[in-house]
Amino acid sequence: MKIAVGADHAGFEYKDRIAQILRMKGHEVLDFGTHDATPVDYPQYGYAVGEAVATGRADRGIVVCGSSLGIAMAANKVPGIRCAPVDEPYSAELARRHNDANVIAFSERLTGWEMIERMLDIYLETPFDGGRHAYRVEQLFDFGDAQRARTLKDLERGEVTDARTPKELVGKP
Ligand code: RB5
Repeated sequence: MKIAVGADHAGFEYKDRIAQILRMKGHEVLDFGTHDATPVDYPQYGYAVGEAVATGRADRGIVVCGSSLGIAMAANKVPGIRCAPVDEPYSAELARRHNDANVIAFSERLTGWEMIERMLDIYLETPFDGGRHAYRVEQLFDFGDAQRARTLKDLERGEVTDARTPKELVGKP
């Protein structure tokens, strides 16, 4: 795969190690930096990786900052991006199986390296389950005027109008 990576000054060491592992595994890496501990602003790196994936320059993205949170928020601003900040393997697996995450965010300050290595393998190897999850993932990108009007109506009623997955798409609950 072609994988875009990016990090701020609080995540560049893990990002560099991840890039090295990816190359060893035969992936092509687009490294958007940063490359040292000089303080930089994480949104720029999240946007760069997000755009690389959204525009098809990369198949997937990996971002790292101190907490995983800010850079994930930035990546998720890019239309088409589903970035999951994760700190343990089961979430990494579900981010792929259920949410078809196309960017994953790691924390260098809070997560041990061994955990990162496990989550990286899971992120790279786990397929998307599709089916009902595809129907739900599509709704993540429906937040235009129509969806907004519907949600505001729900707020007025005080209850959410469930979209409900079509029966033919429901396998196991
Ligand atoms: C940088 O100090 C830190 O705020 C940043 O890496 C990240 O954790 C933000 O969410």
